[in-house]
Amino acid sequence: MATRPRPPVIAGNWKMYKTIAEAVSFLEALKPKVRDTTHCEIVVAPPFTALRAVASAADGSNIRVAGQDVAPEKEGAYTGDISAPMLREAGCTHVIIGHSERRQYHQETDEDVNRKIRAALEAGLTPIVCVGETLDERERNQTEKVLKRQFAGGFKGLTGQEVSPIIIAYEPVWAIGTGRTATPETAEESHRLLRELVNGRFGKESSQQTRILYGGSVKPENIRKLMEQQDIDGALVGGASLNADSFSAIVHYD
Ligand code: PGA
Repeated sequence: MATRPRPPVIAGNWKMYKTIAEAVSFLEALKPKVRDTTHCEIVVAPPFTALRAVASAADGSNIRVAGQDVAPEKEGAYTGDISAPMLREAGCTHVIIGHSERRQYHQETDEDVNRKIRAALEAGLTPIVCVGETLDERERNQTEKVLKRQFAGGFKGLTGQEVSPIIIAYEPVWAIGTGRTATPETAEESHRLLRELVNGRFGKESSQQTRILYGGSVKPENIRKLMEQQDIDGALVGGASLNADSFSAIVHYD
């Protein structure tokens, strides 16, 4: 495969799966399979309860750990929330923000996403910011409009320096958990648009550095073709990240 302009990222979003014991045995199974991997960065996002144990199991390896959500506030009377400094302390380096399931089931808005990005950056966490259109929006030809709105709201008031290290995940909602992946060409169109948006708002340097991952029914069988696209810098994987063999097959897409 041709040399890539940006280091790729393969991230696993475990959603509400795995006990602490299951999470640790996943890590023990994954570590030897990816020990020599240098062509991409590897991130796993366990549920909050397993973060500390997974971070300890990953210690000294090339596997990084992400939270699946973060509160916009540092501390306070916010029952059930977890702050960015708490994620850091638990061993996270990354955090997923604005996943469509958070937007759908917890009514998260682009403004919430913006506040969460700021909180993550302030704590030194790398945000993995999810955007993407629903099936209805795609069928009504609203994809571009939705991505522009999510981008403008989510990245409002940030500087190019802040945006460059942020990871964007393009996740068309109709492709998440449905087995219906976007074709590499369809995904690439949205990725190109997102990179143009970064370029227009934050300049060329940021747009060349920002990694844009694809998410939505990524599997060992389809990752290679997706990664051949110029603006696809990796994947955010749900279902297929729950098994160490299939996740490592995705990591080894090359
Ligand atoms: P999926 O989920 O790979 O199971 O479609 C992706 C995601 O929601 O991040």
